[in-house]
Amino acid sequence: MAEEQAQESEKTIESMLAEGRKFPPSDDFRNRANIKSMEEYQKLYDRSVAEPEKFWAEMAEELYWFRKWDSVLLWDPPFAKWFEGGETNVSFNCLDRHLKTWRKNKAAIIWEGEPGDSRIFTYHQLHREVCKFANVLKKHEVVKGDRVCLYMPMIPELAIAMLACTRIGAVHSIVFGGFSSDALRDRIQDSGAKLVVTSDGSFRRGKRIPLKSNTDRAVSVCPSVENVIVVNRTNLEVRMKGQRDHWWHDVMEGESAECPPTHMESEDPLFILYTSGTTGKPKGVLHTTAGYLLYVHMTSKWVFDLKEEDTYWCTADIGWVTGHSYIVYGPLSNGAASIMFEGVPNYPSPDRFWGIVEKYGVNIFYTAPTAIRAIMKDGDEWPARHDLRSLRLLGSVGEPINPEAWIWYYKVIGKERCPIVDTWWQTETGGILISPLPGAMDIKPGSAARPIPGVVPVILREDGSEVGANEGGYLVIKQPWPGMLRTLYKDPDRFKEVYFSKYPGFYFTGDGARFDEEGDFWLMGRIDDVINVSGHRIGTMEVESALVSHDVVAEAAVVPMPHEIKGQGLYAFVILKEDVQKEESLKKLLRAHVSKEIGPIAKPDKIQFADALPKTRSGKIMRRILKVVASGEEDCGDTTTLADPSVVDRLLRDRV
Ligand code: WTA
Repeated sequence: MAEEQAQESEKTIESMLAEGRKFPPSDDFRNRANIKSMEEYQKLYDRSVAEPEKFWAEMAEELYWFRKWDSVLLWDPPFAKWFEGGETNVSFNCLDRHLKTWRKNKAAIIWEGEPGDSRIFTYHQLHREVCKFANVLKKHEVVKGDRVCLYMPMIPELAIAMLACTRIGAVHSIVFGGFSSDALRDRIQDSGAKLVVTSDGSFRRGKRIPLKSNTDRAVSVCPSVENVIVVNRTNLEVRMKGQRDHWWHDVMEGESAECPPTHMESEDPLFILYTSGTTGKPKGVLHTTAGYLLYVHMTSKWVFDLKEEDTYWCTADIGWVTGHSYIVYGPLSNGAASIMFEGVPNYPSPDRFWGIVEKYGVNIFYTAPTAIRAIMKDGDEWPARHDLRSLRLLGSVGEPINPEAWIWYYKVIGKERCPIVDTWWQTETGGILISPLPGAMDIKPGSAARPIPGVVPVILREDGSEVGANEGGYLVIKQPWPGMLRTLYKDPDRFKEVYFSKYPGFYFTGDGARFDEEGDFWLMGRIDDVINVSGHRIGTMEVESALVSHDVVAEAAVVPMPHEIKGQGLYAFVILKEDVQKEESLKKLLRAHVSKEIGPIAKPDKIQFADALPKTRSGKIMRRILKVVASGEEDCGDTTTLADPSVVDRLLRDRV
């Protein structure tokens, strides 16, 4: 029976794809949408690219400014300045502005903890907490421009700390709570953070992960850190160090809830967020104040079709850019009710997400393909247990969504009523660059559809000429947009090199793409040595360096392999030092080592011990061949340029 059903569903998917079916929004959705038709989108888009400065100036009226800008855009490629001369404040826009309206006691953050506890902060309450913590920061001598590192679980204090930083002009650098102590250390050292906010521990599937002791280890070699503030989340026993460490609840007690917002210049740094690149050293992506805020504000409205009465839920972790832009800044600046969830999709049971949708009557739900695939595998009976009728719009982010997952999401979760917005963007872009606008467009499963107003994507061949329809190429962005990164922290040369050297003047995304005969975009994945694991970017070099840093390893090469749930997994070829035996138990050790060096997300899924890697005569590893081996295929193509072609047969024979 189950088999029959599976065959049936496969057939449906095949036929839907074969006919290239499009899914139009319902009339009801369309009529109420912020942008209602393709004509309306096209008009807006055409205007945005014909007169970008005029367009963005008009949009910028949606924000609150202490001082209006003198110029909209100064573009000295690759350096952009948006709204020079303007003064604003992010926390003021996300909080204070709403307090004079009926939203004062509307829920701003609805928080659901992993164990099932919950807390709700209205705009008024959130404002009070943010002001209090901003005062705490000031007392600990954090001033405008100082960096503050946040290494925390998904608890309300994280959002409070972020907004408090923006209130006084401190630059936050959030390090995902799943990163190891060593990864934290590198990021603190690079940013020169003065203060760290962490928690005793975090919950992960009922287990407690010790964040404070990770922080202790990291901070012991980070002389820039003067104070550490610790939220008690899990009642883990921790060691508090004399003058340096303070409990959140102690420092907040009795603190004043009044803190005037600092008038920030448009281009003042807002946050640094580290992301993986093609070298071993993560890149500190720097976003600034006004342009970023405007961009996440407008894209939240356009893409998520946000309405006053919506309850909106983005399931990302705030440790990644999606959480920054679409849990905190975008939704709050629009005055939305934003859900923040501490746990994972399938703990304690595979219906955790759907229980929350039902509990809060979620209208807009934004998640990642990897989560959809994981839940899908557990069966349709789990969503069937819950009332999902509140949902009206679904979203996807992080990697291309495969048609099977798309159709399941559409049918089983959205009940064929809810448009799906497949949003393409990056840490560097600040906000969504390519996505359907749900009331305006018919949606094709697997296509991210059209550029957001103001965004000019083109797809280029190696020689810089533009591709034709359905021809793959490099995705680049031709014109600056307000949300773009401004530089890499303390490394403008690398910024230029990575993003603006291949096609000078154009932003190079690192992704491959094509557009179809109707002009819709299809993303094809990374074209560099970055692997997208569960929607998270892992640089192969980082994992290779981690492996090689272990005593037993002589050389390592890491390539992607197909993975049912994660999309891509990591396949590591490891050459052991001469006197080391190839024992299975070593694999476990090496996985644990990578986990310690970077974090559990970077653990190789498979490790193959090899005697040699396929190299050209000049000594360059031919990754193309390793990818074939890792993906379980046989045809390695032309191997004649290899120094020793027989290596390939041995690799194929020993593959795991
Ligand atoms: C990939 C996450 C296809 C892409 C917001 C990009 C996607 C990288 C999509 C950025 C999508 C993200 N379709 N691919 N809808 N969204 N990607 O910086 O390869 O963590 O370059 O930002 O994820 O990952 P990042």
